[in-house]
Amino acid sequence: MKNLFVIKIDKYFYLLQGTVALVTGGASGLGRGTVERFVKQGAKVIVGDLPTSKGKIVADELGEANAIFAPMDVTSEFDVQAVLDLTKQKFGKLDVLVNVAGIGIISKTYNSNEKLPHKLEDFARIIEVNTIGTFNVIRLSVGLMIENSPNQNGQRGVIVNTASIAAFDGTIGKAAYSASKGAVVGMTLPIARDLSKDGIRVVTIAPGLFDTPLLKVLPEKLHSFMAKSIPFPQRLGNPDEFAMLVQQIVENPLLNGETIRLDGALRINLKDH
Ligand SMILES: NC(=O)c1ccc[n+]([C@@H]2O[C@H](COP(=O)([O-])OP(=O)(O)OC[C@H]3O[C@@H](n4cnc5c(N)ncnc54)[C@H](O)[C@@H]3O)[C@@H](O)[C@H]2O)c1
Repeated sequence: MKNLFVIKIDKYFYLLQGTVALVTGGASGLGRGTVERFVKQGAKVIVGDLPTSKGKIVADELGEANAIFAPMDVTSEFDVQAVLDLTKQKFGKLDVLVNVAGIGIISKTYNSNEKLPHKLEDFARIIEVNTIGTFNVIRLSVGLMIENSPNQNGQRGVIVNTASIAAFDGTIGKAAYSASKGAVVGMTLPIARDLSKDGIRVVTIAPGLFDTPLLKVLPEKLHSFMAKSIPFPQRLGNPDEFAMLVQQIVENPLLNGETIRLDGALRINLKDH
């Protein structure tokens, strides 16, 4: 099939127009911001999210010709394969995968007041969704991406993952979450190397603090305190600022195998957090 992935405006620089993208976690927060920006830029988007999410509302607002909701759990091989089949049937190809789906938890390794260790099933669930879910969607999406003819730069597709600055600066209660995101950072380079011969780039974003429903798991006191500790700009990020970086990663053919912090220079190294 002819690869309509990009409009060529010079030898190596491309735009989103005509691109087909699957955005997991696309019903809320950073994923939703990405869906909306991509559609504005002329991409066709599959909003991959849980059946209980607002995915249908998000897709309906953007119009069926631009966005469709595909209910899926990122941890399910069956669901992800069904979404990829739907993507091919509806839009004919897949150029970009943006892995944004993720969950958070705050739980100490050992709660000495209540004499309770961290629940092992909670630790496993965070790893299952954030780490295994991300890898599951990557490994299955590649099969559809490599059907694309390479563009002039030899590129067939782009994969963008979402980690967190907690991969580097985990705060109290974040053992599971930090481990899950550290693993996403760790897999970025080897997957980029694995897929280099197929012309697929892989880049991870490590967001700082963004104003989304996920942040509500943190006590209000803690996230307003942390927002004040951001050097500049001293505020939470908004989802479109995340989406701008996703767009740049897709458009810039030299970005590959790297994790990019998007955090206003926030470094959480305070003794009590
Ligand atoms: N908001 C922040 O400050 C922040 C900071 C660093 C990293 N992140 C990461 O960014 C990503 C998006 O976070 P957000 O703040 O937009 O959260 P959010 O809760 O607004 O959105 C997450 C979306 O993922 C979906 N989801 C959860 N589990 C899923 C599963 N098993 N299968 C499919 N979809 C699933 C949810 O339904 C939801 O729509 C997450 O990976 C999160 O860890 C967020």
